[in-house]
Amino acid sequence: MATFGKGPILVTGASGGIGAATVRQLVAAGATVIANGRNAEALDALAAETGCATLPFDLTSEDSIREALDGRDLWGVVNCGGFGGEIATPMETDIDVFDKVISVNARGALLVTKYASKSMIRLGQGGAIVNVSSQASLVALKGHISYGSSKAALDNITRVSALELGPHNIRVNSVNPTVVMTEMSAFYWGRPEIGEPFLAQMPLGRWASEDEIAAPIVFLLSDGASMITGVSLPIDGGFTAC
Ligand SMILES: NC(=O)c1ccc[n+]([C@@H]2O[C@H](COP(=O)([O-])OP(=O)(O)OC[C@H]3O[C@@H](n4cnc5c(N)ncnc54)[C@H](OP(=O)(O)O)[C@@H]3O)[C@@H](O)[C@H]2O)c1
Repeated sequence: MATFGKGPILVTGASGGIGAATVRQLVAAGATVIANGRNAEALDALAAETGCATLPFDLTSEDSIREALDGRDLWGVVNCGGFGGEIATPMETDIDVFDKVISVNARGALLVTKYASKSMIRLGQGGAIVNVSSQASLVALKGHISYGSSKAALDNITRVSALELGPHNIRVNSVNPTVVMTEMSAFYWGRPEIGEPFLAQMPLGRWASEDEIAAPIVFLLSDGASMITGVSLPIDGGFTAC
């Protein structure tokens, strides 16, 4: 049975596929969970199902994040909120989309880390943060100039935060999943001419499920990972290893 420190764990992106699966697994493991997203209806449904608390805010707004998190007691954070942006080459990229992808995936996660870690330090009980990155930060994937760049920035936020927060006994890690067939990914990876050659290169040769991403997130938050910080853990069926 996983054990966690005292205090709630905030999960951003909880109105989406991977975030909701993480909330369900954390609640089942005995954690107190606060679910974030913008879609209040989806968050309310998750709260009715699991008993989690809800805290809607917009990851692109520092004011919104500060208001939500300033002075709020937290022991843990899962930065799972994310935006897929567009599939484009560096030659064709729409720089407004690049700015938005960076704004949600990297800037938003950093702002949540900024305000959450202040509370964690104030409470003095240590803590754990898991950032939901992507395989797209570890290897070059066609069409992923904006998204991959945002997740590479997130991996660096993980490493520098691990360095700075380690003395407060706050661990910071990333998970780097392969494709999960949520709405965010289906429009591209669901096309046979894209998906089939990709799976042919992956040792396990199949897409991941939401629960297969949530389980390592729960592990990295738990006391079982008490000596692990600063890592970017591929959950990719071996794709980036081969
Ligand atoms: N699906 C994949 O194949 C895959 C693979 C690797 C990594 N990931 C990463 O895993 C994470 C979750 O993805 P998912 O597949 O579960 O996607 P999803 O179902 O589309 O969920 C995305 C989540 O991000 C939230 N979000 C987006 N923009 C936001 C904003 N401005 N403010 C607050 N929340 C915002 C959404 O909330 P609202 O809808 O309520 O606004 C939603 O809860 C993302 O970081 C994604 O990059 C996904």
